[in-house]
Amino acid sequence: MAARKRPSPTSISTKPDPSDQKTTRNTPDNNAFNLSPPKLGSIFVISTLLCSLHLYLLCSHYTVDTELKRSILINAALSLVGFFVTLKMIPVAARYVLRRNMFGFDINKRGTPQGEVKVPESLGIVVGVVFLIVAIIFQYFNFTEDSNWLVEYNAALASICFMILLGFVDDVLDVPWRVKLVLPSFATLPLLMAYAGHTTIVIPKPLVAYVGLEVLDLGRIYKLYMGLLAVFCTNSINIHAGLNGLEIGQTVVTAAAILIHNVMQIGSSTDPEYHQAHAFSIYLTQPLMATSLALLAFNWYPSSVFVGDTYTVFAGMTMAVVGILGHFSETLLIFFLPQVLNFLLSLPQLAGIVKCPRHRLPRFDPATGLLTGTKDGTLVNVYLRLFGPRSEKSLCIHLLAFQALACAFCFLLRHFLAGWYK
Ligand code: UD1
Ligand code: MG
Repeated sequence: MAARKRPSPTSISTKPDPSDQKTTRNTPDNNAFNLSPPKLGSIFVISTLLCSLHLYLLCSHYTVDTELKRSILINAALSLVGFFVTLKMIPVAARYVLRRNMFGFDINKRGTPQGEVKVPESLGIVVGVVFLIVAIIFQYFNFTEDSNWLVEYNAALASICFMILLGFVDDVLDVPWRVKLVLPSFATLPLLMAYAGHTTIVIPKPLVAYVGLEVLDLGRIYKLYMGLLAVFCTNSINIHAGLNGLEIGQTVVTAAAILIHNVMQIGSSTDPEYHQAHAFSIYLTQPLMATSLALLAFNWYPSSVFVGDTYTVFAGMTMAVVGILGHFSETLLIFFLPQVLNFLLSLPQLAGIVKCPRHRLPRFDPATGLLTGTKDGTLVNVYLRLFGPRSEKSLCIHLLAFQALACAFCFLLRHFLAGWYK
């Protein structure tokens, strides 16, 4: 979290609240406040762009088993309720976190009045909690008592819940970067311990002649791989951040690609176990998408709340979990191409070879309102250095378009390599 100073609020209008004892004790300026309204117009456009293909494929293009379609649509309806609950709860939670002095300053607006506003932090906690409630209640509609999926589904929820807790602890205590790096490996433990699925990988056809096997059983190493995937997904989202809307934007674009991939796999297979694996992924990704979009309504440029590490690690862990249990981790890693690039660019600073400042953000010029790339090794900076200075909003949209391109590239790759690769 950034410095906790007391600025003069502009986007947050203040008025005294004498009835509230806690406010009097914890908040130096004894304020209640109103958050800027959610940017529902932008969210409508973004969600239409992201969800329409998924819904079209599910409801019209493919012939999906009626029972399965029913479950997916019930999950979608619950997710929609989750969207509205999150939307309603964020202003309430924002007031509470501000009372506890959990706020940050918008670094990319430094030198302007907006840069002086204290922006409530860690609102990812609302998304995390609503997501868990939706995912837990959904079991009532889908699972029978002897359902084999129940154990892994609840282990997945335990891992996500553990990750939300550790993310929130990080936001409150501001733990050192290297500790932050390993936290997800603890959070994956519930899933790793309960995992009873296969531990084999299919060797790509061109390599079968060299390896001498078509399928390789990795045994315990497979669980290590699962743990490492969770560590990568959580941290890679957290370090591709720092622009209004980027943390959530990359999540919702990737989530849309995951949903499309899941429906395509369900539609093109007749194996019920394969259907279940991908349906499982949909049951967790739809609520992730819906609750994230509600937070994006407040976090889109100009942000009136920040998401905190609570959100970035929660989103990363949820996508890692669906990739693992849906058995499409390779595809997931191609969806994560911008994050992989950002991670590779970051390596010298993360490894301590090059000095790593607390924030590796671009330089903001208050006179022009444009961002310029610095020498710090991030995709954000490299993009600005390659394509020249631009505004924060435009840069975020460009990076999200790049994320969408990476996902489209992955679908093309899968299409052309089908049959030849695996
Ligand atoms: C990671 C990055 C750091 C980046 C930060 C921004 C690494 C190793 N760490 O650190 O370089 O600066 O994320 O999220 O790559 N903020 C903004 N605008 C935004 C979002 C955040 O100015 O749109 C600032 C606010 O001051 C906010 C703070 O970033 O309070 C949150 O930073 P935090 O998530 O705690 O940083 P890290 O995850 O540790
Ligand atoms: Mg962060």
